[in-house]
Amino acid sequence: MNQELQFDIATLKTTDIADAMVLEKAAYPPPTPRRDFVRELNSEVTHYLGLRVRLSRLVTKPADGMLNPLIGLAGFWLLADEVHVVTIAVDPAWKGLGLGEWLFIALLEAGQAAGGRIATLEVRPSNAVALALYQKYRFAEVGRRKAYYSDNEDALILTAPPFESPAYQSLLAFRKNRVQSRLQKIDLDKHV
Ligand SMILES: CC(C)(COP(=O)(O)OP(=O)(O)OC[C@H]1O[C@@H](n2cnc3c(N)ncnc32)[C@H](O)[C@@H]1OP(=O)(O)O)[C@@H](O)C(=O)NCCC(=O)NCCS
Repeated sequence: MNQELQFDIATLKTTDIADAMVLEKAAYPPPTPRRDFVRELNSEVTHYLGLRVRLSRLVTKPADGMLNPLIGLAGFWLLADEVHVVTIAVDPAWKGLGLGEWLFIALLEAGQAAGGRIATLEVRPSNAVALALYQKYRFAEVGRRKAYYSDNEDALILTAPPFESPAYQSLLAFRKNRVQSRLQKIDLDKHV
C-alpha cells in the first residue's frame, strides 16, 4: 500500500479551466471551449467536481502545476429535483483504478446534497465502459434519443432509483467503502 497517495475531490473553479481542458482533450475529446466552461461554472444549475492527485511527497523538484494534477472531472446540472449528469472523465493514465467510480459517487452525493432526488444521464450505446459503471449504480434505460450525437449515434437515456430509497443509500455506502479501500492500494509509482 502506498501511504503517500492522496486524492482530493473539490468543486471546480474558473482557475481550474485550463487543467480541465487538458484533461478533456486527453480523456474525452474534443475539450469544452473555455467560454463554455466559464459559462457553466458561473451557472446556478451547474455543478462541476475536479479530482486531483497529491504528488507532493513523491516529486522532489516539481514543475509548476505538477504537485496536484487534475486527473478527473465530473459535472451535473440540477434541474428541479433531477441531477442530470453532463460529463465524467478520468485521465487515461489513471483509468481502471476505481477513480471514475469514486468521482461518480461524489457526483451523486453532491447532487443529492444540492437537492436532487433522482439522477439521469445520456450515454452512447457503444460506450461499454461508461455503461458498465452506470449499471453498477443501477442506472437503467428509460428511453433513447435518435441521432443525438454529432456523428449521429443515438443516446440511451438512463435513470437511477430515487436517492431517498434506503436500498439505494445502502448501495452507495457499500460501494463507496469498497472503492476507497481499492484506492488505498494504488501503486502511485506506476502512474507518475
Ligand atoms: C467512464 C470513465 C470515467 C470510468 O473511469 P475509470 O476510472 O476508468 O473507471 P473505474 O476504474 O472507476 O471503474 C468503475 C467501473 O467502470 C467499469 N469499467 C471500468 N473500466 C472498464 C473496462 N475496461 N471495461 C468494462 N468496464 C469497465 C466497471 O463497471 C468498473 O467497475 P469494476 O472495477 O468493479 O468492474 C473513464 O473510462 C473515462 O474517462 N472514459 C472516457 C470519458 C467517457 O466516456 N465518459 C462517459 C461519457 S457518458
